[in-house]
Amino acid sequence: MSQSLAGIILAAGKGTRMKSELPKGLHPVLGLPMVELIGRAMKEAGVEKPIVVVGYGGEMIQEALGDGYQYAWQREQHGTGHATMMAAELLKDHHGPVIIAPGDTPLLSACTLRELAMRHEETRAKCTVATAFLDDPAGYGRVVRDESGRVAGIVEHKDATPAQHEIKEVNAAVYCFDAQALLGILPKLGNSNAQREYYLTDALSAIYHQGGDVVALIVSDHEILQGVNDRWQLAQAERTLRARVNQRHALNGVTLVDPDRTTIGIDVEIGPDTTIEPDTYLQGETTIGSGCHIGPCTKIKSSKLGNGVNVYFSQIVEAELHDGVKVGPYANIRPGTVLGKQTKIGNFVEIKKSVLGEGVSVSHLTYVGDSSVGDHTNIGAGTITCNYDGFTKHRTTIGSDVFVGSNTTLIAPVTIGDGAMVAAGSVVTHNVPADALAVGRARQEVKEGWVSRWRKRKRSENQP
Ligand code: UD1
Ligand code: CA
Repeated sequence: MSQSLAGIILAAGKGTRMKSELPKGLHPVLGLPMVELIGRAMKEAGVEKPIVVVGYGGEMIQEALGDGYQYAWQREQHGTGHATMMAAELLKDHHGPVIIAPGDTPLLSACTLRELAMRHEETRAKCTVATAFLDDPAGYGRVVRDESGRVAGIVEHKDATPAQHEIKEVNAAVYCFDAQALLGILPKLGNSNAQREYYLTDALSAIYHQGGDVVALIVSDHEILQGVNDRWQLAQAERTLRARVNQRHALNGVTLVDPDRTTIGIDVEIGPDTTIEPDTYLQGETTIGSGCHIGPCTKIKSSKLGNGVNVYFSQIVEAELHDGVKVGPYANIRPGTVLGKQTKIGNFVEIKKSVLGEGVSVSHLTYVGDSSVGDHTNIGAGTITCNYDGFTKHRTTIGSDVFVGSNTTLIAPVTIGDGAMVAAGSVVTHNVPADALAVGRARQEVKEGWVSRWRKRKRSENQP
């Protein structure tokens, strides 16, 4: 693209049919708000800092999108033309093309936007509009062409004559305008139409009547028209985008046992020869290496997994798992956890904010929190790090090659030295030096013949 590209996202409408407190643009599709999906597509297409026109719930949208965007306020919603007018101030110094898209078409891709901008540049049009042919065009604005086939304007469904209702070519509401031409026309738009709104679509006929060129980019992928107006359409968009992402991974060498039951977020990366079993959710900025086996019934969020990792029936959030780690079933790996190579976390184990070295084994019914554990240490079933005294969290430090016996309670802060052993059932309140054995439990007493003596006494006491 020879000239820099500006972009406007129209997202001020309330989205009444969503029946929601949340502004429509913030409803997520595949984990990302719809406006952000469109914003990303624009950025990928070359728009440096898209302008978002906000109104209903605008503060929430600003907070969600942050400062990678510019914002224009439309306090009262008087139509798409009026909304675009609100961005005029931010656009006034831009000499070049501007893309405009609605905030509720989450499937719009950077590819389509790029194509639109390229067509716009090639044809030197004043406006290029994405259009599509639909068998059932009801509800959409219709593309009106003149005798020579040039686009003469768009007429909204509600304003169309019966003859115009027969037109199958519809306006996808994604445009590329010459910014200065648009700015010249916006103040002249009227609102004498069925909805008493200022229509952006009227800018097209105005350009045509001024003798400027309006060009249509006919798109065959009808999904860009899959606007979201209610929650059912939101679910359809989710399904479409999910399939699109899943297909990309499958073609990259990832086995998805049942793609309809696998949800992979947009920012997830997966290496080849990894298998994903059903009912698995991979979310946030998650990276998974090659040759892994993930699921079934697993959630992994914002985590980094190496190669050959195996996770099933488990949840992993903001954690790092190195090569060959095995987790599950029923393990909960919480934020701030690092699991070294070949470490094994078994059933009903919770690990929080802890760094475990290589080849560590925590196989059953254990809680490890705010701890560090050295290489090749074995933590027995039912071990609990008591990290919280009701006021402060304390750390537990366990060295390498340590053997912690089953049902041990480690009262933090406490340190167990390298190679030490803790006897099963111990309550450890003091540091254990390297190579030492710690036994922290009551010594067992055995009273020979005690039971029969006791029973005999009881029987005689209970005789009438
Ligand atoms: C629009 C087009 C129609 C096209 C259809 C495709 C107009 C007049 N019509 O109709 O030709 O076929 O999209 O889906 O543009 N918005 C604001 N402020 C407003 C009004 C709307 O920001 O005052 C935003 C909405 O939040 C939404 C977008 O603009 O994201 C589109 O508005 P909407 O009312 O849904 O337009 P449509 O009736 O669908
Ligand atoms: Ca719409």
